[in-house]
Amino acid sequence: MLLVLSLFAFFFILLPLIFHLKYPEIRWNWEKINLKTIQFPKSFIWGTATASHQVEGNCINNWSQFEGGNKTTGEPNIKDSQVSGNACEHWDRYPKDIELIKNIGVRYYRFSLEWSKIEPQKGMYNQDAINHYSDLINKLISKGVTPVITLHHFTHPIWFENIGAFEKEDNIQHLLLFSEKVFNEYSDRVKYWCTINEPAVVATQGYFTGMFPPGKKNIKLTCIVLKNLLEAHVQIYKKIKSMKNGDAAQVGIVKNINHFDPWRRYSVLDWLLTLFLNYVYNTSSIRFLKTGKFKILIPGFLWISHKNMNACTANDFFGLNYYSHNHIKFNIFNKDFFELKFHSKDTMTDMPYTIYAEGIYRAIQEVSKLSIPIIITENGVADKDDKIRAEYIQKYLYATMKSIEDGYNVIGYFYWSLLDNFEWAFGYDMKFGLYSVDFKNQIRKLREGSETFVQIIKKNESKI
Ligand code: BGC
Repeated sequence: MLLVLSLFAFFFILLPLIFHLKYPEIRWNWEKINLKTIQFPKSFIWGTATASHQVEGNCINNWSQFEGGNKTTGEPNIKDSQVSGNACEHWDRYPKDIELIKNIGVRYYRFSLEWSKIEPQKGMYNQDAINHYSDLINKLISKGVTPVITLHHFTHPIWFENIGAFEKEDNIQHLLLFSEKVFNEYSDRVKYWCTINEPAVVATQGYFTGMFPPGKKNIKLTCIVLKNLLEAHVQIYKKIKSMKNGDAAQVGIVKNINHFDPWRRYSVLDWLLTLFLNYVYNTSSIRFLKTGKFKILIPGFLWISHKNMNACTANDFFGLNYYSHNHIKFNIFNKDFFELKFHSKDTMTDMPYTIYAEGIYRAIQEVSKLSIPIIITENGVADKDDKIRAEYIQKYLYATMKSIEDGYNVIGYFYWSLLDNFEWAFGYDMKFGLYSVDFKNQIRKLREGSETFVQIIKKNESKI
């Protein structure tokens, strides 16, 4: 009896208490914080970001294929069966869009190369597409905007998808060859290179929730794909750093940190679940980049282990994407054994998450373990009514500033996104843009809420 009582006390009282103290969910009293004091070092990098498939238009890749709906069931994969189609016509309108970038005062633009346009068939490169990005780079530079390239932002050619994409470690060589090719083309003018955008998102959405292509639901593949994407990053880093201009290049992975917090801080089940999700989604990647060792163990079910000591020296900077966190409640009746919960006092964005600016501070703390400079490569809000954009920007920038004051090495911030665009499984319903886009006539307009961003940059830059 005593043993039963002790075990009960250990599992249901002591463990939750230890976790509660070890993993606090930071909350600040925003009423007492003066958001007007936001101030950044004068060397701080200010930028904005997009990704090819979301803005260019006319992409034929794994995503456009997925937008056609589920081949077997006929179910739509995208909200209301939307397709990316012409998107923002950024492919043709980029000269004018560069003006828009200039007008908000940022001096850096992060964009991705559309692999499927550059290498539509395996080993066959399209010179027009290569010239297109070359011109984009030249025009950016001539306007005083520094280009920042992402090599893989969720999309790849259909031929690559057909051979199993990142399900097979062998396939990494194709992305490696592509990276080598474009680094050769552009590295004389481009210093900043992001390798893979959000490996954990590609793996979990593509292979666990099935919300991204290839729409599979297989936990083993989720872990394998994550491991292969991280490995691809390391190989790309090593390759391009060994090439001409490699020394001068700044190369880094882009990782989204999304903390899972327990809905009930007293529940050991909520805790165990969140610790597991945090490990798979966040910690396993950071650990790999720190120690060269990747391990995921699901007791009695799955064991994925991988080692590459090159991983420990495979980043010149860490690209941190941060939006929000998730509260998780264990639910035995749910197919995934959990549900997402939201506190009514928290402000919802149009995406299924809340404003949680303290989280960017936590994420910065976490990735600082790698002891390399951090660039916030994405942060922004979907807010179609433009009611909370200003608040969001101020609070997340305040938290970023505080992290710098507290000694963390954050050197830049890119707002996501320059334009409203194709928000993957949500289609065009999510309005992340500093500029709204009317998709009937492609007219762009700076949102009122975005003025806050413009003013903060202006205030900080005028100190130079
Ligand atoms: C992705 C972007 C996306 C943004 C907003 C990030 O996960 O890199 O492509 O649009 O989040 O959801």
